[in-house]
Amino acid sequence: MKNILITGGAGFIGSHVIRRFVNKYPDYKIYNLDKLTYAGNLENLTDIEKAENYEFIKGDIVDSKFIDKLFAEKKFDAVIHLAAESHVDRSITDPMAFINTNIIGTVNLLNAAKNIWKDNYEGKLFYHISTDEVYGSLGKEGLFLETTAYDPKSPYSASKASSDHLVRAYHNTYKLPVVITNCSNNYGPNQFPEKLIPLSINNIKNNKPIPIYGKGENIRDWLYVEDHASAIDTVFHNGNAGETYNIGGKNEWKNIDLIKVLCKVMDRQLGRKEGDSEKLITFVKDRAGHDMRYAINCSKIENELGWQPSVQFEEGIDKTVRWYLDNEEWLKNIISGDYEKYYRKQYS
Ligand code: NAD
Ligand code: DAU
Repeated sequence: MKNILITGGAGFIGSHVIRRFVNKYPDYKIYNLDKLTYAGNLENLTDIEKAENYEFIKGDIVDSKFIDKLFAEKKFDAVIHLAAESHVDRSITDPMAFINTNIIGTVNLLNAAKNIWKDNYEGKLFYHISTDEVYGSLGKEGLFLETTAYDPKSPYSASKASSDHLVRAYHNTYKLPVVITNCSNNYGPNQFPEKLIPLSINNIKNNKPIPIYGKGENIRDWLYVEDHASAIDTVFHNGNAGETYNIGGKNEWKNIDLIKVLCKVMDRQLGRKEGDSEKLITFVKDRAGHDMRYAINCSKIENELGWQPSVQFEEGIDKTVRWYLDNEEWLKNIISGDYEKYYRKQYS
């Protein structure tokens, strides 16, 4: 039995990774460590919460004493580290939460792994999940490669870049076996409705304005979340220590074009007249320092490890809308708390 620590497993991507590992690998004991911030939600995992090879631990990665004790007790063989503050807009209003969790939290986990594994690294792995935003912003041309120089532009991306550097430094200095992946924008079920796609779905459903920053010309490369989970599975089992792999959907969309597609899907699934939802599109004040374009070259993971995105965007967006419409209770529970306060502050 291998003991695997997955951090941030109650969040969006983490919950898909946890479900995949718990169901697919009965010989792994999966520990989900999560602080349950506003973004963490155990309702994402009700289907597997009673599995014998799964245990939830509530805790904060910023608390180094707690982390050291946990590593001493559980004797983890590997760490898949997803816990983070993840929303760019929140990093603009409250950078310190990002510095604490994304940088200090990551170093606490690195220290605990290094100390407990004590240079005997046979069969051990520290897998750090990162983002394409560390590479900065592209113009019309070009793609991010693993060798692209880091140029983060927001407090969020700078905190993730910092954590990536620290993970590499622990590999170089202490030989800690690490692997890093940098992924593009994910979409799919269970994403907190502060991010563009679920926020727009929720607003369209409730006939509220869809807030598009600036002119809606910024471009993102979208990947269905289960494809990210399958890439993480591939890299965890076959990636080479010390390496970085980019993960992307080869699926670039201008925000405004993506929202128009989403509006059509919503009209169809809600039985509205085509064009009804588009009327809700509202251009609002741009995000400060808004990165223009992200686009990933993921040929390294494709060629070396044989992973490829499998879900076409039309299928993925259809499934995503269906999930949000079928899971009204999940959405209702989220937007009934502090969400309204956040929304008013961000969009008023
Ligand atoms: P999320 O915000 O949905 O979930 C983050 C989870 O981490 C939550 O469950 C939260 O409770 C937990 N958490 C936060 N602070 C913590 C702390 N101090 N201690 C313990 N747990 C804590 O995020 P997500 O979108 O699922 O992203 C997961 C990871 O993937 C992040 O590292 C993010 O940078 C990275 N990533 C996200 C995307 C994307 O499009 N969402 C793309 C590429 C990379
Ligand atoms: O690229 C990977 C990153 O993708 C991850 O590392 C981040 O954790 C994740 O949040 C995401 O960052 P973005 O800033 O790209 O995602 P977001 O959904 O916030 O915004 C997508 C685009 O839509 C971006 O250009 C900003 C724009 N936008 C967003 C919101 C919330 C709007 O126009 N209106 C909005 O209300």
